[in-house]
Order: sequence, then C-alpha cells, then structure tokens
Amino acid sequence: MTRDDLFKINAGIVRDLVTGVAQYAPDAFVLIISNPVNSTVPIAAEVLKKHNVFNPKKLFGVTTLDVVRAQTFTAAVVGESDPTKLNIPVVGGHSGDTIVPLLSLTKPKVEIPADKLDDLVKRIQFGGDEVVQAKDGLGSATLSMAQAGFRFAEAVLKGAAGEKGIIEPAYIYLDGIDGTSDIKREVGVAFFSVPVEFGPEGAAKAYNILPEANDYEKKLLKVSIDGLYGNIAKGEEFIVNPPPAK
Ligand SMILES: NC(=O)c1ccc[n+]([C@@H]2O[C@H](COP(=O)([O-])OP(=O)(O)OC[C@H]3O[C@@H](n4cnc5c(N)ncnc54)[C@H](O)[C@@H]3O)[C@@H](O)[C@H]2O)c1
Repeated sequence: MTRDDLFKINAGIVRDLVTGVAQYAPDAFVLIISNPVNSTVPIAAEVLKKHNVFNPKKLFGVTTLDVVRAQTFTAAVVGESDPTKLNIPVVGGHSGDTIVPLLSLTKPKVEIPADKLDDLVKRIQFGGDEVVQAKDGLGSATLSMAQAGFRFAEAVLKGAAGEKGIIEPAYIYLDGIDGTSDIKREVGVAFFSVPVEFGPEGAAKAYNILPEANDYEKKLLKVSIDGLYGNIAKGEEFIVNPPPAK
C-alpha cells in the first residue's frame, strides 16, 4: 500500500474508534499505534476537541518501535550484546525521515564510526520498509510492533500507578503538558515526539533535549519538521474539513 492508501483506510477507522472513546470513555488514555501515526494522532486530537474532551496528557502516538530499532541497530554497530542497555532518544515523527534518532545523546555514550553513521540513521528511519519488503506483500512489522506496544503501554500504566522516573519518547500534542511550550517554540509544529515522563494523569513532563543535538542531528530535525507540517495538516483537515461521504 502507498502511504495515501494507508491514510484513506486508517484515518476513518481511527476517527470512528476515537469518536467512541470521546462518547463512552472520555477520560481514557489513548495510545495510537495505527499508521500513519504522524496524521492519525492529529485526527484523534481533532475528534476529541470536537467533543470537548481533549486532554493532551492522555493522547499519545506510539513511536517506541523507532526506539527499539535504534537500540537494536546501534547495538549491532558498536558491538553491544544487550540493546536494552542503550538509552537512545528518538524524536520527531514516526515515518521515514521524520524519525530522528539522537545518537549523540545515547547513554552510555557510543562511538559510531563516521563511515557507518548515515547507513545506521537510514536503517533506523526506514526499518519499517525493510520489514514490509522482506514480507513481500504479507504485512508489516508484527512481533516488534507488539513488543514496542507492550513496552509503551506498560510505561503509561506504571506512571498511572504512581511509579516515578518512567520516561519513553512519545508523539504528543505540544500544548497543555509541562515542558511543551519550549519545544513548540523550537519546532513550530503542533505534534512532536520527545521523551515524556509518565504520571498518574498521563504525560507529566516533556523533556526538551533538542538543543543538545549536534549539527548533523539538527539537519535531520529540520527535514523531520518540514515533513511533519504536511502530515499533521492532513490529519487535522480530515476532521475539520472531511471528504464527502461515498
Ligand atoms: N506504530 C508502529 O510502530 C506500528 C508498527 C507496525 C504497524 N503499525 C500499524 O498497526 C496497524 C495494525 O497493523 P497489523 O499488522 O496488526 O495489521 P493487521 O491487518 O494484521 O490487523 C489489523 C486488525 O484491525 C482490524 N480492523 C479492521 N478494521 C477495523 C475497525 N474498523 N475497527 C476495529 N478493528 C478493525 C482487523 O480485523 C485486523 O484484526 C496498522 O495501522 C499498521 O500500520 C504500527
């Protein structure tokens, strides 16, 4: 499927599911994993706004798979046998070059050989396509998506249960959450993935780590932001100015 085909099918599904959430469970945590996440999360936000129940602290786009890929592929390059030991912030959006792994901020610090950096970043950004091609028409990532979905849902639930220090990147609305106004000023777009700390009410704090990115990563950030403007507008437009029903 092209991205447009995917949008046409999933936009309506997300709209209808989130309409149900707005009507019957307006206080629920909403974790959107359906692609294209860059657009389906703005769709969800617009639906919730329309029903006057939008709480930015409880709406998340699940970008954890990008972190899982960043950990896995970086571990392979640096010879780390346990990828989960690498804490790599991945920011931006959740498709292709809107995904920005901030490898220079990896903890513990890793040294990526200069001749391997471009390929590593591309592999993290386009890992989803690699899976689609390998499955040759039989679907997209499933097990890795399940693991990522589990990891993210567990983080939200741990925060909700009062556990402290639970942080994962998530694609969030840049308003109404502690720390988002700085990020919004910097990126300009309405939604962006950044490390989020979870608490009893959902997103308790968003961390603005973007100023710490190096020059190479700042160029990637610019490409990401340029792409996100259109992706977000497409999602918002789908609700604000819906296509005629067939
Ligand atoms: N965010 C991520 O990291 C990530 C990664 C991989 C895939 N995805 C996305 O996850 C979604 C699911 O992927 P998959 O591989 O599991 O697809 P799939 O086709 O195997 O499963 C989709 C499921 O949705 C159900 N469904 C269809 N229409 C529905 C509706 N109107 N209401 C409720 N359920 C409905 C289908 O019956 C099916 O069980 C896709 O949107 C895919 O793009 C996201």
